[in-house]
Amino acid sequence: ELGKYRHYMQKEIFEQPQALANTLEPIAGAGAISPQIFGAEAVDVLKATRRVLILACGTSYHSGFTARYWLESVAKIPCTVEIASEYRYRESVPESDTLVVVISQSGETADTLAALKHAKSLGMTKTLAICNVPESAIVRESALRFITRAGPEIGVASTKAFTTQLAALALLTLALAKINGRLSAEQEAGYLTQMRHLPVAVGKVLELEPEIEKWAQRFAGKHHALFLGRGSHWPIAMEGALKLKEISYIHAESYAAGELKHGPLALVDKEMPVIAVAPADELLEKLKSNLQEVRARGGELYVFADAGSEIAESEGVHILHMPEHYGMLSPILHVIPLQLLSYHAALVKGTDVDKPRNLAKSVTVE
Ligand code: F6R
Repeated sequence: ELGKYRHYMQKEIFEQPQALANTLEPIAGAGAISPQIFGAEAVDVLKATRRVLILACGTSYHSGFTARYWLESVAKIPCTVEIASEYRYRESVPESDTLVVVISQSGETADTLAALKHAKSLGMTKTLAICNVPESAIVRESALRFITRAGPEIGVASTKAFTTQLAALALLTLALAKINGRLSAEQEAGYLTQMRHLPVAVGKVLELEPEIEKWAQRFAGKHHALFLGRGSHWPIAMEGALKLKEISYIHAESYAAGELKHGPLALVDKEMPVIAVAPADELLEKLKSNLQEVRARGGELYVFADAGSEIAESEGVHILHMPEHYGMLSPILHVIPLQLLSYHAALVKGTDVDKPRNLAKSVTVE
């Protein structure tokens, strides 16, 4: 079943072009985005939506956190993202015009399911599940649904589920933007073209594997790593850190790069590899000055930059250029080298990649 791959995780990373193509099938031949892809009643629900509350755990929380940047900047809808296990137990203020979005690969995560039920018990009945398992508890409990078509994910570390969740959330953003009159026909066509090209774009990023493997060799011996990002790529830095910890057992933390000087910079020395997610967006110049702060303290930098970005290799600064810049959807591409990096670091360390210690694929206990 593994074919040419050594582990399910590697196979699933390389299945992402197909998983995305399958997930995006609802827009494959379409000239426009139709809200009905979220269910028959979606038009009315999305029209009445004034805010979005996203609830999820782990990697699924990171896809939701990325979507927050999209929903507020493109659809102009206020969005809150909360860890399901926190939301379910705290006193919060329900708002009836909220669309509650729960994100889950398995559809069985106990905390996410309980958070969904809790939101409903507070009167928030407009619910949407973004899920990889159609007959799961979370899907059954939700009014609207979008099924990601990543196919079965066997490796404990979530990879293709994450990128397909992001694709689904990008569609949700565009559907809400359109319904709110925030999307011109031209912009819609542009986004659709970009989304249809995603499988090819992801395929090109996967070709970076041999270079990433070399990087992984260099820091598999380290005990700590710091992941930095800004804007919609901060959650991608968070996801990179989570992947590295869970399968290679290297302690990794992620920070919004602007937070560096408010504390974590104290940790940086030559033993601390710093991985930066550095797309060519409006925050790049700011990020570069954060990277200089790291370099000045002797930290070894590993930078994932975009094609054409003017960041130069130098002593202690390693740069890998992504094949292309991808605008709003760039987080979907930028997470892929981080998946590969943690996979190869784990290989060097000889850990059980598909079944990391202490973890279960589906967390059905709280
Ligand atoms: C990390 C990972 C977990 C899950 C989390 C939620 O690689 O797989 O963090 O993302 O347990 O699981 P789902 O998405 O099934 O609700």
